[in-house]
Amino acid sequence: MSQLPVILKAENVHKSYRMGATQVNVLKGADLAVHEGEFIAIIGASGSGKSTFLHILGGLDRPDKGAIRFNGRDLNRMKARELNRFRNEKVGFVFQFYHLLDELTVLENVMLPSMISRSVAGWLAGRRAVRRRAESLLDQMGLKERLKHKPYQLSGGERQRVAIGRALMNEPKLLLADEPTGNLDSATGNGILNVLDALNKAGQTIVMVTHDERIAHKAQRIVTLVDGRAR
Ligand SMILES: Nc1ncnc2c1ncn2[C@@H]1O[C@H](COP(=O)(O)OP(=O)(O)OP(=O)(O)O)[C@@H](O)[C@H]1O
Ligand SMILES: [Mg+2]
Repeated sequence: MSQLPVILKAENVHKSYRMGATQVNVLKGADLAVHEGEFIAIIGASGSGKSTFLHILGGLDRPDKGAIRFNGRDLNRMKARELNRFRNEKVGFVFQFYHLLDELTVLENVMLPSMISRSVAGWLAGRRAVRRRAESLLDQMGLKERLKHKPYQLSGGERQRVAIGRALMNEPKLLLADEPTGNLDSATGNGILNVLDALNKAGQTIVMVTHDERIAHKAQRIVTLVDGRAR
């Protein structure tokens, strides 16, 4: 893998949280290089900082010290607009509890990232194509018959597949998933892992957080967070 270019690099990432009088040092010099096309699993005990690290990798949170570089650009040096673009267009997020909007249909949930990234004029000009892409993603996720459902009318596995479709809407360079199977029974979880595996085989770069070693073995490379560092 190492001959393929590095798209995302974490260098000496530190992160602490202050709770009243105590300070919790979660990340203490974490490094990670993500190469194009890789499927990486980050494992570690509960509380080891996996979610914290993933949020920082995706620009949802900032490190106290250290840098995250996307194609060489330090996220910390980006202006708000550029950072928003990075989060909306370069990265797709999948969370344990789906984070879908219950007022919107399945199709609208998947189209949402594309609405956000466009101007009104751009949206009006492109909405047909956006709709087609969302429909084709949902077809790929086996949800062709669920376009008009609301998330609360779906099973957990179906909701997670909607969330994956939404994450892929803007063709992100990087898919970040935090315990994507954590809320599902093992058969349903396996279905989600097979979806991720197929996406990776088609070229999608993926970083997935899990506390389950068996799930981690689906990835090509396992990184363990221990004592605030990635090994
Ligand atoms: N916003 C916050 N304020 C204070 N402490 C926090 C905050 N977010 C996380 N922490 C603390 O940081 C540590 C790491 O949390 P994190 O959620 O990254 O762990 P994790 O490895 O994802 O755990 P899990 O496997 O349980 O999801 C925990 O001890 C947690 O209590
Ligand atoms: Mg977590």
